[in-house]
Amino acid sequence: MFDKRLMKLCPESRKYIIGNIVLQWLELVLNAVMIGIVSFLIEELAESGRWDADLLLPVLLITVIARFFITRGAVRMSWLASSTVKKKLRGLIYDKLLRLGERYHEHVTTAELVQESVEGTEQLESYFGQYVPQFFYAFLAPLTLFVLFGIRGSWKTALVLLIAVPLIPGAIMMVQKIAKRILSRYWGKYTELGSSFLENLQGMTTLKTYQADAYKNEQMNRESEEFRRVTMMVLTMQLNSVTIMDFVAYGGAAIGIIIASGEFLNGRIGIADAIFMILLSADFFLPMRRLGSYFHVAMNGMAASDRIFRFLNTEDPAEGSLSAAHGDIVMDRVSFSYDGEREVLHEISLKAVEHQFIGIVGESGSGKSTIASMIMGRIQPTSGTVSLAGIPIAEIKRDSLMKEITAISSGSVFFKGTLRENLSVNGEYSDQEMIQALAKAQLHELLNNGKGLDTELLENAENLSGGQRQRLAIARAYLLNSPVWILDEATSNIDSESEELILNSILAERNRRTLIFITHRLANTAAADHIYCLKDGKVAEHGTHRELLAQDGEYAKLWNTQILLEQYGKEEPK
Ligand SMILES: Nc1ncnc2c1ncn2[C@@H]1O[C@H](COP(=O)(O)OP(=O)(O)OP(=O)(O)O)[C@@H](O)[C@H]1O
Ligand SMILES: [Mg+2]
Repeated sequence: MFDKRLMKLCPESRKYIIGNIVLQWLELVLNAVMIGIVSFLIEELAESGRWDADLLLPVLLITVIARFFITRGAVRMSWLASSTVKKKLRGLIYDKLLRLGERYHEHVTTAELVQESVEGTEQLESYFGQYVPQFFYAFLAPLTLFVLFGIRGSWKTALVLLIAVPLIPGAIMMVQKIAKRILSRYWGKYTELGSSFLENLQGMTTLKTYQADAYKNEQMNRESEEFRRVTMMVLTMQLNSVTIMDFVAYGGAAIGIIIASGEFLNGRIGIADAIFMILLSADFFLPMRRLGSYFHVAMNGMAASDRIFRFLNTEDPAEGSLSAAHGDIVMDRVSFSYDGEREVLHEISLKAVEHQFIGIVGESGSGKSTIASMIMGRIQPTSGTVSLAGIPIAEIKRDSLMKEITAISSGSVFFKGTLRENLSVNGEYSDQEMIQALAKAQLHELLNNGKGLDTELLENAENLSGGQRQRLAIARAYLLNSPVWILDEATSNIDSESEELILNSILAERNRRTLIFITHRLANTAAADHIYCLKDGKVAEHGTHRELLAQDGEYAKLWNTQILLEQYGKEEPK
């Protein structure tokens, strides 16, 4: 009934849980005192026709006031316990995300993550705030009442009631078996539905374009129907078990009342004791009964926590501890496969000498972007080594590597906010510096709308064109000013006129930083110090543009095709 992992998760919450139990217990004792006083007064009234309440009434009043504060205290303890746990758990999820970095979606989908860290932890609130303290209190309360009933004269009533109490946890345990299976299905369906909802929403344009929205709509309807069904199963199960527990609880209390009345009628106990036991019989069962209803919410929390723990227990990506140094980037006989089956890089060896301009060209799918990801440390070679200044990339601290190498690709991300905010994500730059960077990236046109650096960008800079976004990524790289740039099709969406201007401005950097330029368009890298031409994941040829043309191999073939295509484009239509 307890999840050990959850209990170990947050030892800080233990004191609040204990506090809660103690306060609830005090509440019960005060309740007994109150009822004791009332029953005593009734007895006096019945026997002598009047009561002497001078002393008892103030005591009753004090008890009522004390109970009020104790109840409030218990609620506060419950809140403290659950909020510490929630905070701790969200902190753990957040830290894990930071460690996983951009690779988090290899382990969970975004929708799943949001559901688990928001709703999942919310469910755990009841686990720590209510279920766990109630678990102990539900045993403590009947034992306390057992002793009190015994002292008041009827061990028989006390014993019968005590024996009946465990029927409730018995019923709970029976339900638990079924509940566990249903709840894990419930969470599975829930996150599935969440994921497809998010995915479909984000891909709405594509779905509309291919008229696939009706089909997806149907698919989602099917999924939500399944979710509805499993939700109904959960509710039915809860309702049924509540009925059973109610039956046991109120049936048990009724038995207690009947026995106590019988004892009174037989003259074995006085009227005060009889009233005391009649009024408190239900309290034997109510804590256990409440435990039963908390139990369902707790089970839901536990099912959610299974998924949270699965995420928290995924292996952290290996991160090195060394600092990056300036120097050459060397790949030595590197092979790589994404899925462990199909190799996409075969024994690639290449070298980007510091401050040189290196071109990597080749057909689509030949492995160029895979090489870029590997140099950025996002993926590790299956065999062979990649190093920067002689240090294997895998041994370099991520932060340090990011400072050393900047990747500029068509997939760069921007945030909703001003141009200024998007340019200074990684530090503070003066307006002058930002404007200079924009000019170098041929993007000064953005400043001409009267708002300058305060121009608002939409989420992911959707109010810019593809080419403008690429130029913005380049402007950002100018500001970051790291010693190595990897440009992966960084100018593919830019019109040839601005492309040439940008290339010139990038080339002006060629002796100040290492430039690794990945492109389809061979003309862009013709001036490089060294060009690697890939084919099917292998280095087919390498050398300078002239050398490669002289070899008359793969590179020359690609070059000639592109020249032909470009000339064809320039010919006057007849
Ligand atoms: N995340 C991935 N998971 C599995 N396979 C992948 C993944 N990314 C790329 N591949 C495969 O690896 C091979 C090389 O892809 P890569 O993206 O490196 O090619 P590229 O040379 O950059 O192509 P392009 O010029 O079209 O950008 C391709 O066959 C591709 O299908
Ligand atoms: Mg690519």
